[in-house]
Amino acid sequence: MTKYNVAELLESDKFLQEVTVKGWVRTFRANRFIALNDGSTINNIQCVVDFENTDESILKRITTGAALAVTGTLAESLGKGQKVEIQVTKIEILGDSNPDEYPIQPKKHSFEFLRENAHLRIRTNTFSAVMRVRSALSFAVHKYFTENGFYNFHAPIITGSDAEGAGEMFTVTTIDPNNPPKDEHGNVDTSKDFFGKTTNLTVSGQLEAETYAMALGKVYTFGPTFRAENSNTTRHLAEFWMIEPEVAFNNLDDNMDLAEDFIKYVISYVLENCNDDLVFLDQRLLQEEKTKPANQRSEMSLLEKLHFVVDNNFKRVSYTEAIDILRNSKPNKKKKFQFVIQEWGADLQSEHERYLVEKHFKCPVILFDYPANIKAFYMRLNEDGKTVRAMDVLFPGIGEIVGGSQREERLDVLKQKVEELGIDEKELWWYMDTRKFGTAVHSGFGLGFERLVLFTTGMGNIRDVIPYPRTPQNAEF
Ligand code: 4AD
Repeated sequence: MTKYNVAELLESDKFLQEVTVKGWVRTFRANRFIALNDGSTINNIQCVVDFENTDESILKRITTGAALAVTGTLAESLGKGQKVEIQVTKIEILGDSNPDEYPIQPKKHSFEFLRENAHLRIRTNTFSAVMRVRSALSFAVHKYFTENGFYNFHAPIITGSDAEGAGEMFTVTTIDPNNPPKDEHGNVDTSKDFFGKTTNLTVSGQLEAETYAMALGKVYTFGPTFRAENSNTTRHLAEFWMIEPEVAFNNLDDNMDLAEDFIKYVISYVLENCNDDLVFLDQRLLQEEKTKPANQRSEMSLLEKLHFVVDNNFKRVSYTEAIDILRNSKPNKKKKFQFVIQEWGADLQSEHERYLVEKHFKCPVILFDYPANIKAFYMRLNEDGKTVRAMDVLFPGIGEIVGGSQREERLDVLKQKVEELGIDEKELWWYMDTRKFGTAVHSGFGLGFERLVLFTTGMGNIRDVIPYPRTPQNAEF
């Protein structure tokens, strides 16, 4: 007797052999047909029970969600939609599932309901497909960088610096809030805290990655990042995973090339390796789109969108050009935008980004050369003295998926910027050192992994593409 998983059996032509497979019951019809799934594929294997020769007590326990070991003969299936089935000779109930209590019944559940049961939602077709695609994307990320000469660098998760200067950080402390140590002025004495100073969860591994790029040349981090911003949207999480490559001697054009090549590679990888899951997700989206008014439906199916991204060049547009397009756009003139664009210098909102991508260019867009005062301190100042070498990659349905830049490598310019923004240079002494010793042009970007998964799976809410979402007022599980 040989053990197989469902994916192997469905591809197998070892007919008439005895096989054993373990999995969970999805459905049990007519006291005869078990649809068994073990997570190896979205597809179930049909197990045909000889109910006349099976104990009534066993039949009763074959309920949705129960764990079984099924032994039988692999046979060509006469049923529609499957090549093989198992003619069962033995069933072992490994774990019962009380049908009166099990929340995941074989019917359509709302995503809200499933979020409340995030520990069980992975047992549905949609979530198992999403999470298999997520896993494949994660593998493709490491594969791409490894094949292209990058080193994987593990940025620290607890940090003493605020990389983005945004201040939206979670503090890490062991101080008892009810009995904190105080200094002579009566303030909380953070020098008595675990690390002897205030520390936070990182918002980005970039600053540390820059120091490594200055020796290893090409590095990337892929780890969890944390933002305490109170954004209750379908695109924001308080804990998300970010992929951040950093490359010595790359300028902004090289950086844009890298981002485009990388995104196309990982999506191609999934198209080649996750066909069954993508076909399922494509159909799911199609059904969802049908519930929308005709003028709000997407023009492309999920698979068409993925192929479109892989097969077409991203449009590269300067911020200044984008502002001209937006200022002259219908929704701006008719004041349909919530934030009407008045003049150069305005920060672009998601509605503007989506207008550019979905209505104007109708393809992924890379915006570059943003006004210095709406971007982070580390971005390289252009000759015009008012724009920086920043780039954002904007995607249909998502908005910003990548944020990056060429970094300011000139010590004097960086020092001046830090001073202007009132950042304590002493806090960044180690970062400044990279500009003192062998400074060089370098660039990098951050790609929000969940936004990539959102796009690739066609899901509508970022909370449904991470196993256990952390959002304001929500850290269950
Ligand atoms: O544009 P951001 O803030 O860039 C940085 O953090 C840079 N330090 C990256 C770098 O140059 N190494 O964030 C990068 C990306 C965004 O484009 C978005 O995809 C994602 O991270 N992101 C979020 N994803 C989910 N939830 C949030 N709250 C996110 N904030 C940013």
